[in-house]
Amino acid sequence: MNIRDLARPEILSLQPYSSARSESAMAEVMLNANEAPWPPAGVPKAMQGRALNRYPDPQPADLLARLAELYSVDESRILVGRGSDEAIDLLVRCFCRPGVDAVAIMPPTFGMYAVCASVQGAARIEIPLDRNFHVDVDLLLKKLPGSVKLVFLCSPNNPTGTLTSHAVIERIAGSLVDRALVIVDEAYIEFAESPSVSVLLGRYENLGILRTLSKAWGLAGARVGCLLADVEVISLLRRIMPPYPLPTPSINAALGALHADGLATTRQRIGLIISERERMAAALVRLPSVIEVLPSKANFLCVRFVDAAQVQRSLQRSGIIVRDVGRHARLAGFLRISIGSREENSQLLEALVRLEVSG
Ligand SMILES: Cc1ncc(COP(=O)(O)O)c(C=O)c1O
Repeated sequence: MNIRDLARPEILSLQPYSSARSESAMAEVMLNANEAPWPPAGVPKAMQGRALNRYPDPQPADLLARLAELYSVDESRILVGRGSDEAIDLLVRCFCRPGVDAVAIMPPTFGMYAVCASVQGAARIEIPLDRNFHVDVDLLLKKLPGSVKLVFLCSPNNPTGTLTSHAVIERIAGSLVDRALVIVDEAYIEFAESPSVSVLLGRYENLGILRTLSKAWGLAGARVGCLLADVEVISLLRRIMPPYPLPTPSINAALGALHADGLATTRQRIGLIISERERMAAALVRLPSVIEVLPSKANFLCVRFVDAAQVQRSLQRSGIIVRDVGRHARLAGFLRISIGSREENSQLLEALVRLEVSG
């Protein structure tokens, strides 16, 4: 079976939109895309970078080349778009027929897999993580109905911070060849001190990996993320992707961050976040208001408090916001705390100590 056979028939028969920029290269006189002939008035030159009056390259060649180097995969296996959120949406729309197909998720996990499935009218099959918040492979493989086209596995998982081993991912991908795509969301992998599963890409054509520049690379505002997958999957998604997914300023920002200087600073910052995560975990677990801190391989900690609502309220009064993740089954009483700068983290600890003292 070819991976294309998993896609919705409507997508296979679709005549994709052909954009002006994809049909011809840049030329001296550009009169094919109804663009303005001048750069925008009032926008400072420094902010314009490449010609802002021109539509951007749908998959910018220089950005693809940098990402290919960064992730050690061939450019043909990369689809870059508006954050990994866009890739999640495209995958569900491409592979799930409304009212027929399903996605599998492993709660508690990132919410967008379920939201995209609901928007598409795809059913959601939940295979809960085990009691240590690890993937329950036996349960997954036993319970997965034939209607499941996409399995979303988040590693490190948001909001628990747990990492899934390559052996587990290989077992799932190997068992589902010809049946479903296994999408490993590695939004936080840079903080895991563990290699990406992209090393397995050539071995399993049903494996896809989500990467983003929003977290370790500090570019959440630029919205740049990608899917690494088999070339067939990439070409299927390109059929339904909007013609110009990446704004020019975002392309420029990503190229800047991935340049040698940006790379060096980012690698150093990742190290800082990891050491702060360990410092914070050790300090938090000593506080009487804390019941447990889940071991985390991401840039956040999932912490169970004796009274999470009171902690959240009092932190807010100190000008500190954290995320209540108690709405997830089995995370009642937990708050998710992102690792900030050393000063911000110390501020949070001081506020928690003040709360203990004031009772
Ligand atoms: C696990 C996970 N995947 C994907 C995303 C979305 O990332 P992006 O900014 O690339 O859309 C997030 C954002 O918080 C996330 O936690």
